Amino acid sequence: MLKFISNKGGGTPVNFETAILDGFASDGGLYVPEHLPNISNEQLKAWKNLSYIDLAFEILSLFIDRSIVSEMELKKLLKDAYASFEKEETIPLHPLTSRKDTYVMELFYGPTLSFKDVGLAFLVNLVNFFLERKNEHLSIIVATTGDTGPAAAYFAAGKSSLNAWVLYPKDMITEEQERQMTTLPHLNIHPVGVSNCPDGADDLDLVISKLFANKRFKEKLQLSSVNSINWGRVMMQTVHYFYGYFQVVDTIGEVVHMAVPSGAFGNLCAGSLARKMGLPISTFLVANNKNACLHRIFSEGIFSKQNIIETESSAIDILIPYNFWRYLYFCVDKDGVKIKTWMEEFKNTGVVKFDAETFESYSKGYLSYSASDDQTLAVIKEIYDAEEYLLDPHGAVALVAADNLRDQLGDGKIICLATAHPSKFPESIQRVFGTDKLPAAAKHHSIEKAKHLCEKVHLCDHSHLEEALMNAMESNWDLNRLPL
Ligand SMILES: Cc1ncc(COP(=O)(O)O)c(C=O)c1O
Repeated sequence: MLKFISNKGGGTPVNFETAILDGFASDGGLYVPEHLPNISNEQLKAWKNLSYIDLAFEILSLFIDRSIVSEMELKKLLKDAYASFEKEETIPLHPLTSRKDTYVMELFYGPTLSFKDVGLAFLVNLVNFFLERKNEHLSIIVATTGDTGPAAAYFAAGKSSLNAWVLYPKDMITEEQERQMTTLPHLNIHPVGVSNCPDGADDLDLVISKLFANKRFKEKLQLSSVNSINWGRVMMQTVHYFYGYFQVVDTIGEVVHMAVPSGAFGNLCAGSLARKMGLPISTFLVANNKNACLHRIFSEGIFSKQNIIETESSAIDILIPYNFWRYLYFCVDKDGVKIKTWMEEFKNTGVVKFDAETFESYSKGYLSYSASDDQTLAVIKEIYDAEEYLLDPHGAVALVAADNLRDQLGDGKIICLATAHPSKFPESIQRVFGTDKLPAAAKHHSIEKAKHLCEKVHLCDHSHLEEALMNAMESNWDLNRLPL
C-alpha cells in the first residue's frame, strides 16, 4: 500500500486517509507519497480519450488504495464532486485565434468560478466521506487570497461533519470574492475578515501554522486544512495537466508547454509532479505578477520574501510559495533533511540561496516571467478586441508570460491556464474597458445573485487574530457539542 511521509523527513509513514485528514504532517512538513507512480507511454495512450472524470479515476487510483476507498466509492465521489460544474467537459480548452498553437485551459466553470473548485470539489467531499464513515467531526481552517475560501466554503456548506473557518485579508480581495464567502447562510461556515495584514494572506498562513503547532488546540478541535498544504489538493490538480495535454495533441510525445499563473506554487507543484510521473510536458512557464517570488527562484536560484505589492491579479499576491518545498523534495533524491534545513534557514533568515547543483536539478524545463499590471490589462484588451474572448487578470498573466517567453521555446503548442472567471475581478475589467463598455462575459449570474444577499462575517484585527480565533473556534465547538 502506498504510504505518505513528510517532506521534512520526520514522523512515521501514514496511509492515504490519515494524510488527507491531518493536512500537515506531524513534524510540520508537507505530506508526499513515498514514491511517485511511473506512467508509461502505453498507459498515456490508453487514457487519451477519457473524460475528465474517468481520467481522474485512473490517476487517483494510483494514489488511493482500494481498501481505503473502493472503486465504486471513488467513482461516486468524483461524479458528485463535478456535478455542479457548468460545462460537460468540466475544464474545456479554448484555442486562441490571434496566437499560433495557443490554447486557454478554462479552469473556472465550477460553482465559485476559479480553479480552486477543481481541487476542492473532490477534496472536501472526500474529507466528509472519511468523517461520516468514522462518525467524527473536523474543523477545517483555510487562508485565502480570494478563491480558495469561496470554494472551501461552498463545498463544506451544510456538511454536518465539518466546520469551515475561512480567513481572508480584508480589503485585499475583491468585493465579489468576499461575498461568495459571506453570503452563505449555513451555520457551519465562518468567514473571518482580517484587517491590517501587512503581508496579505501569507500573514494568515502563519497564524494557521501556529494553531496547528498548538497540540492541545489542534486535538480538541480536530483541526485540519484544505489549503494546498493538503496532499489531496495537489493530487487532484495533477489531473487537469493530463487532461489538457490529451486535448491538444494528436499523438503522445508531442511537444506541449504550459503557462501557469502562480503564487504559492500549488498548481505548478501538481503539474511538476505530473511531469515527473511521465506526462511529457516540455516547458513550464512560471507566470508571476510583480510579487515575483517564483521568478526569483527560477531565474536566480533564490527563495526569498519581499514586501507585498498589490496588483490586478490579486489572487497571486503571494510572498511564500510553500508548495515549492514539496516539489523540491523530489528533485533532491527525496532528502527530507535537506528540505528541513532549507525551510529552517528561510524561517530564520528570510532567504535561501540554492547551490548550483540544486538549482540545476529543479529549474530544468522551467522558464519564468514577472508580468506588470500594464501588460496584464493590455493583453486582456488585445485578446478581447481581436477575438471577443475575455480573460481574467490571472489567465492574462499566463498569456503575458507565454508571449514574452515564446521565442525561447522552439516548437510546440502552448496551453495557458486560466484560473478564474473575469466576473470575480470587475474593477480590473472596468479599468480595461471603462464602466459603460463592459463585455457581457464580465458578468456571471451567481456573482450578480450574491449582490442581493445578506452578509455574515467575523471581523478581526491581525494583531490579535490568533487569540480571537482560538476563542471563537473553541466556543463554537463547545456549543455544538452540548447535549440537547
Ligand atoms: C485565480 C488564481 N490563480 C492562481 C492562483 C495560484 O495558486 P497557486 O499558486 O497555489 O498555484 C490562485 C490562488 O491563490 C488563484 O486564486
